[in-house]
Amino acid sequence: MVRSRIAGIGKYIPPHTVTNHDLIQYMDTSDEWIQERTGIRERHYAHRTEETTTTMSVEAARIAMERAGTRAQDIDFIVFATLSPDYYFPGCGVLLQRAMQMKEIGALDIRNQCSGFLYALSVADQFIKTGTYKNILVVGSEKHSFGLDFSTRGRNISVIFGDGAGAVVLQPTEEQEQGILSTHLHSDGESAELLAMYNPGTHANHWAARNYAAFNESEIGDMFMSHAMIDNAQNFPFMDGQSVFKKAVVKFPEVIKEALNANGLAPADLKLLIPHQANLRISQFVQQKLQLRDDQVFNNIQHYGNTTAASVPIALCEAWEQGRIQKGDLVCLAAFGSGFTWGSALLKW
Ligand code: ACO
Repeated sequence: MVRSRIAGIGKYIPPHTVTNHDLIQYMDTSDEWIQERTGIRERHYAHRTEETTTTMSVEAARIAMERAGTRAQDIDFIVFATLSPDYYFPGCGVLLQRAMQMKEIGALDIRNQCSGFLYALSVADQFIKTGTYKNILVVGSEKHSFGLDFSTRGRNISVIFGDGAGAVVLQPTEEQEQGILSTHLHSDGESAELLAMYNPGTHANHWAARNYAAFNESEIGDMFMSHAMIDNAQNFPFMDGQSVFKKAVVKFPEVIKEALNANGLAPADLKLLIPHQANLRISQFVQQKLQLRDDQVFNNIQHYGNTTAASVPIALCEAWEQGRIQKGDLVCLAAFGSGFTWGSALLKW
């Protein structure tokens, strides 16, 4: 049976580091509060004008392709996951295709936020397994720093997020003991508004009767974009952090177990769990629930913050670069986020 395998992986972290102390000049926060609640010590921000979500993805993709021994001309499909695209439309996939001077290949954009890379990987995996494509570039990239409220009003969200990009080249393999064993994707839109950026959008307050905690002034969202929206900070993301936390600590372990069960394996078999770097406290909770040792869970949120769709490929790349993943190792990738959406992928490196 043909499986897909990660033939090359790369990451790009913008050089500009922003510590918790640096954030204090913009908002009422503290290093202690941020570290205690999230584990984050620093994050990186892209250059305001010279770097975009797409340009960062190009850097990560170049490294992944070089490591896979693949040229831009060999790539036959792009799957691009982001929630912070360069344009409202078209998506970043075509901008990446243009920047890398690739052939007129298909370029698909994925809008599944923190689970975006898992969704992207799963889609690419199906195309490889059916024999449709042989070299797929799968990317997660985010430039959050351009769209956050850096006043005290937005501090519960803005301290969490960072910028960066990760990419893999997926190729077919016929080796028995290698490749993606299975992927598992889920959603529950019941709480869509609990972690969301409502505007600009076409909702015109249609869903205002639901969980619109941030939407009590109902006239605010009745235009695609308005001065009132900006004055009321309705153009920034909204997060009910505690609800997200409660759901995440249930769904993360569930979807990891689903992947292990589907393959007749147990948590003890895992060499490494690479969870989406949502919040160190969430990862620690998941580790405890699955009774995993410290060396079985990879965390790097301390240095990069939460980079949403980029966090899983960045963490996977860093773990591989540190020698924590060797050929034949069992690795589980898992994510949970806005939607809510969640997913996992189990693979043998
Ligand atoms: N600095 C200082 N104080 C802050 C900050 C900050 N950056 N942010 C919020 N506060 C204050 C609040 O104003 C509030 O003050 P008050 O009691 O005077 O009103 C107090 O801290 C507690 O606020 P909560 O929002 O209740 O804080 P909570 O304890 O829930 O912690 C957090 C917030 C860290 C977001 C937590 O809810 C959490 O971990 N949630 C999980 C969500 C998450 O990790 N999301 C990541 C992105 S989504 C994803 O990737 C899945």
